[in-house]
Amino acid sequence: MMARHSLVHTLLLAAGVTGNLQQSAEAEIHRREACPAPAAGAPKMWWRAEVAHNGVTPYSTDSAYQYYRNMLSYGADDTGVNDSSKAFNDAVHAWQRAGNTVSTRPAYIYVPPGTYLIKEPIQLLVYTFLVGDAVNIPTLIADSSLNTEPVIHGYDLYQGENGATKNFYMAVRNFRINTSRISRHVQARGMEWSVSQSCSLVNVHVTMPVGSAHVGISMSYGGSASLMSDSILTGGAIGLQIASQQYLVKNLTFTSCATGIYIKWSHVTTVQNCHFLSCTTGIDAAREGSAGAISVIDSIFDQAGVGVLVYAPSSGSTQSSVSLVMDGVEFRGANLAKATDGRVLRGGSVPQGQSWVLGNTEPDGYQGGAMYVAPRARALVDRGKYFVKALPQYEEWDVGMVVNVKEDPEFRVWGDNLHNDGPSINAILRKHAGCKLIFLPQGVYQTLETIYVPPGSRLVGEVFSTITALGDHFTNPASPQPIVQVGRPGESGAAQLSDILISVGDVLPGAILLQINMALPSPGSVSLFNVVLRVGGSADTPINTKCSSPSTPPSTCKAAFALLHLAPSSSAYLEGIWGWVADHGLDTFLDPSTPPQNIAVGRGALIQSTSPVWMLGTSFEHCVLYQYSLHNASNVYMALQQTESPYWQGAGTLSSAPSPWVPNAAHGDPTFEHCLPDDAHCRRAWAMSISHSDNITVHGSALWTFFNGMRDGLLADANCMATGGICQTSLVGISDAASTYLYGLATRAVENMVWDAGNGGGNGTVVKQDGKKGGWGGVVVAYLRDVEARREEEEEEGKDRGDGDDGGEMDDENGGEGEGGEEDVKENGGGRERVRTGWGLLVGGLVMGVVDLL
Ligand SMILES: *[C@@H]1O[C@H](CO)[C@@H](O)[C@H](O)[C@H]1NC(C)=O
Ligand SMILES: *[C@@H]1O[C@H](CO)[C@@H](O)[C@H](O)[C@H]1NC(C)=O
Ligand SMILES: *[C@@H]1O[C@H](CO)[C@@H](O)[C@H](O)[C@H]1NC(C)=O
Ligand SMILES: *[C@@H]1O[C@H](CO)[C@@H](O)[C@H](O)[C@H]1NC(C)=O
Ligand SMILES: *[C@@H]1O[C@H](CO)[C@@H](O)[C@H](O)[C@H]1NC(C)=O
Ligand SMILES: *[C@@H]1O[C@H](CO)[C@@H](O)[C@H](O)[C@H]1NC(C)=O
Repeated sequence: MMARHSLVHTLLLAAGVTGNLQQSAEAEIHRREACPAPAAGAPKMWWRAEVAHNGVTPYSTDSAYQYYRNMLSYGADDTGVNDSSKAFNDAVHAWQRAGNTVSTRPAYIYVPPGTYLIKEPIQLLVYTFLVGDAVNIPTLIADSSLNTEPVIHGYDLYQGENGATKNFYMAVRNFRINTSRISRHVQARGMEWSVSQSCSLVNVHVTMPVGSAHVGISMSYGGSASLMSDSILTGGAIGLQIASQQYLVKNLTFTSCATGIYIKWSHVTTVQNCHFLSCTTGIDAAREGSAGAISVIDSIFDQAGVGVLVYAPSSGSTQSSVSLVMDGVEFRGANLAKATDGRVLRGGSVPQGQSWVLGNTEPDGYQGGAMYVAPRARALVDRGKYFVKALPQYEEWDVGMVVNVKEDPEFRVWGDNLHNDGPSINAILRKHAGCKLIFLPQGVYQTLETIYVPPGSRLVGEVFSTITALGDHFTNPASPQPIVQVGRPGESGAAQLSDILISVGDVLPGAILLQINMALPSPGSVSLFNVVLRVGGSADTPINTKCSSPSTPPSTCKAAFALLHLAPSSSAYLEGIWGWVADHGLDTFLDPSTPPQNIAVGRGALIQSTSPVWMLGTSFEHCVLYQYSLHNASNVYMALQQTESPYWQGAGTLSSAPSPWVPNAAHGDPTFEHCLPDDAHCRRAWAMSISHSDNITVHGSALWTFFNGMRDGLLADANCMATGGICQTSLVGISDAASTYLYGLATRAVENMVWDAGNGGGNGTVVKQDGKKGGWGGVVVAYLRDVEARREEEEEEGKDRGDGDDGGEMDDENGGEGEGGEEDVKENGGGRERVRTGWGLLVGGLVMGVVDLL
């Protein structure tokens, strides 16, 4: 069915925008030709089930290899009568994928609508997407014989030591899982999900009997993941049990779970847009040393006993090992935050734009529960909350609205990494801009030119469809070129990318893997979901053999200029993005003779945007100058960022930052001039550099550093014990930042968590990790710039907006520390609250305000 709809409608759909933005979208359309546009409908089947799965897997080493697997072809019974678990496991394992899949044998397993009985766990492997129909979500019924085994076992056992931290490139989407047939006294499990970066868990609904011992999602083997989203957990003892280095959980609903989220251990946990309904405990962080930094943002606890339960410091200790920040939390129940010794830390709601904190702050020191006013940049919010968006699966679109790039009669595309597919892909994108969903089947699409994504493009892959660059266009670091460019400077419109991997096919010092220039003044019209930016490590590039021997030092392996560039003109919403410069060969790590990697990519994510940017669940790892740099940026919101410094840097190594790169002011590169020439500890990549920027809020920073080089074998001295347990000097570098709020900042093996040069060459501030109890090394719950400077202005605005829509009882018994300050009465949506002011502190060029809400 092809419906003719206006392009306005299309853009609005793509952008998910509402009425008041229609005018700007209309203006955009008048600049382009009209064309038959995709439109929302009510298709009976999901387009993914109908489209041709004619992709290729050039590195599977088996010409008969089939990556696309429909569960019904494997003998599954969609009526729910007979056991389908063998069929599921056959579909996952077919073509000898076990231990053999990391970058070579992808599998996309499509599960049609229906009900499937599961008697044995569905065992996943790395590089597997298990996806239920998005139009009619299938149900998996847990048979009682599963007992304590999970219905879906998302942990690949073949990844060796610390296997969970190598469980990459997996997805589970669109399932209902019902554990009701298992005895309520058994600790049954919906899913085991011990995974890491670039794993996507979306739209999974686990139903468990209320009051049972069941667990919705467990993590028995740990992991290093960044995001879980848009799912529903109902009943059971625990909805979600977290055991991972860090996690962002976004838009999860917990209904009638005894405990919504149980943090077994996690260094950084960010909870955003979650709804806890009728749970005895919303978030349980009650074990000593188990929960480093917790942020709760824009969430609701309704009919809860306790919102967040934290471990109380042992008697004699002044600090808890748990740091907690809450901003925009609506609470109806007994107590929002409580300690295990029974103390009430916070009674009722916390309005948006105000932050309640427990833990070490800079510069006020340890706070046992204090309120700061840190207003939200208006550009970042949508009806008061930080804007969020769900992974588009286009289930409302008919298959007629989808173009498969391998079926264009005019422009031939191969996907085999042997042909230059760039010109054809560019032609196809131009041809259908604003009209179609562009489907890139599984494959490795080589390009010798920049792929330009024009306004009105939606590009969706299969497992991860790979775009890889080669050739002279990308070799000149003096004139770096994007491999994929979303819009040109000054262009506006909608663009969406999902399930796409961008890589370099060789050492390309002039390649920027992904550059975004496009913006439209509506939240999220430019959006990326589940995108991987990868340099090396995989079968599709010779980089990991070229850059892994001691005779190929980093200076010969400047394999890319930058991973991601959000240009000054851009505005974008990014969710589930992993920028990875390989530290090991994905397919060869089990071979102990494989030397470590020496790849020297200059930059991670360069953010220069002044229009709003949202980055949720992103990781950047192993770039030379920085993982994240916010330079001349404003209005940036991040929820959970994770970084690692290059393993090959550090004391006693050949190359110290900025080497082998030369800092270039035209890109705002950090210079490392504050380091002595031979100080290899100081000369390591910034996890995050912030310069000349304002309106920056980060909730949850998991900033890790390991190793002094990797000469001594892959995993030797990860903790830098040879240099006193310190791997590098500083992780966050700041200069000239205003209205910058870093919450839940966690580091490991570093001397200075933050090195702040201050504004205008002032002396600034250094935050030492030592003494900041919690997490993997140290935690600062709030590092705040210019709170006081903003506060008065925001109070005025607050009256107009009527912000703070908490309806909760403000029965705070012990809501804050300290005394003094004059009282000021202000109206808010939930009633009157008294705000103490007069807490301005001037420390080292930072102006702070502490406000105690009563
Ligand atoms: C279920 O299994 C029985 C016995 O093997 C078989 O006769 C029947 O056809 C199966 N039903 C389905 C829907 O596969
Ligand atoms: C789960 O299964 C139980 C028992 O089979 C059934 O009563 C219930 O309706 C199911 N719940 C959902 C949400 O499907
Ligand atoms: C939140 O997740 C639910 C369940 O998957 C989904 O239906 C809903 O659209 C999501 N909400 C937003 C704002 O993305
Ligand atoms: C920062 O946010 C404030 C509050 O919304 C706004 O008034 C100001 O213009 C923003 N600054 C920039 C540079 O956008
Ligand atoms: C950032 O802004 C400063 C001050 O306006 C300017 O001097 C500098 O050139 C800008 N950086 C870049 C990379 O444009
Ligand atoms: C700034 O730092 C310098 C060098 O350490 C020191 O001499 C000076 O006293 C400091 N100034 C202030 C105001 O702290």
